[in-house]
Amino acid sequence: MLNSLEGYRESEALAMSTRLRAAGHAPELVSAVLTQLKLREQAAAKFGPFAAHMILTRAGLEQATRMNVAAVHAGRFAGAGIRSVADLGCGLGADAMAMAALDLEVTAVERDETVAAAATINLMPFPNATVVSADAQEWVTAAQAGGTEPEGYWLDPARRVVSTSGSSRVFDPEAFSPPLSFVESLAERGIAVGVKLGPGLPHESVPVGCEAQWISVDGDVTEAVLWFNALARDGVRRSALVMSGPGAGPTPAGERSGHHELSAGTDFGGSPEVPVGGVQALTGYLYEPDGAVIRAGLVADLVRRDFDSAGGALLDEHIAYFRADGLVASPFARAYRIEAVMPFNVKGLRRWVQETGVGRLDIKKRGMAVTPEELRRQLMSGKGSKASKGSKGSKGSSRHATLVLTRIGEERVAVEVTPA
Ligand SMILES: C[S@@+](CC[C@H](N)C(=O)[O-])C[C@H]1O[C@@H](n2cnc3c(N)ncnc32)[C@H](O)[C@@H]1O
Repeated sequence: MLNSLEGYRESEALAMSTRLRAAGHAPELVSAVLTQLKLREQAAAKFGPFAAHMILTRAGLEQATRMNVAAVHAGRFAGAGIRSVADLGCGLGADAMAMAALDLEVTAVERDETVAAAATINLMPFPNATVVSADAQEWVTAAQAGGTEPEGYWLDPARRVVSTSGSSRVFDPEAFSPPLSFVESLAERGIAVGVKLGPGLPHESVPVGCEAQWISVDGDVTEAVLWFNALARDGVRRSALVMSGPGAGPTPAGERSGHHELSAGTDFGGSPEVPVGGVQALTGYLYEPDGAVIRAGLVADLVRRDFDSAGGALLDEHIAYFRADGLVASPFARAYRIEAVMPFNVKGLRRWVQETGVGRLDIKKRGMAVTPEELRRQLMSGKGSKASKGSKGSKGSSRHATLVLTRIGEERVAVEVTPA
């Protein structure tokens, strides 16, 4: 029935349901089919054209790796010469599909029987993939005992717990399923292992000796991946892979189109010393690094590598924004021209809004306990009442301004910027 209903649009769901039920199909079946069609429509953002042929669950879709990112992970296995992989906790099988598409022999292990059934269908186009419904740890023990271990392991542990009050995110790597210690125990045996974790992974949880890679897609940091043994690149301890980044210019030779990577061989905290400007240096251009660069602790490395000759300097050792005299196009940071620097003070900023005719205001912040939406309301509220008293529509009140709030040492500043 699913295959016969291609080209579904949610707006037609009610009519379709009525038609199918009138044709004698059971209401449960019709409802299940419509749910799948709806999920497929939503899944297109992650899986592109593959979504139209997959069986999905809502939770599985939320947790699944985006297909373009899964392809990059799979490429690392293939590039390292790995021929067989077990995906331990495969979910709907997005990562496993990408690995199978690169001709790796894939065993996709999933504990949840319903999810494993969905993965079985999703992996059907690939004769080189097998789905096993089992506990990952038990499966590995049996494979070891039987001498049938694959050459590599991929894990994307569940980072949510489901309780009677719904599902919630867990942050302790030992509460992941399977836990990070299990991943480490696999890696300690010298096998190629990759594990996908949340982007908020604290640096102190990153095991010694692996490569940690943070990935962002269109400015959103999607994940951190730890690569062990044959999958860890020589001389790379931490890296940021920016896929279609903010100022993504030309792709360097040897890299995939739209992919830009910054890496360091030094451990966390081992970035080079770069100048720290302070408030007086707030001139020229302000740069906001991509989230993957920030999470990987590579801001100073970026300033040193690409902004040195442009007078690049951090604003404060603890704040990720930096500045430079000139405009440098970079896929790793968004540039803003600095227009004005003001002390952070609600009264003063309200006056600035009034006097300079700000009609639309974007607020960005780092290192400040401010809720941008709330502050915007506070700053613009006077405007609204004034506008309603008659100045509405006047040319002067339509200015679109961007304010960056940050802390430099003890000072809290508001910087007016224009995206460059
Ligand atoms: C984050 S999802 C994987 C998503 C998958 N990488 C994808 O892109 O579709 C994690 C999966 O691991 C499964 N899982 C958790 N603990 C497991 C265990 N001990 N053994 C096998 N599967 C497990 C969960 O049921 C869940 O489907």
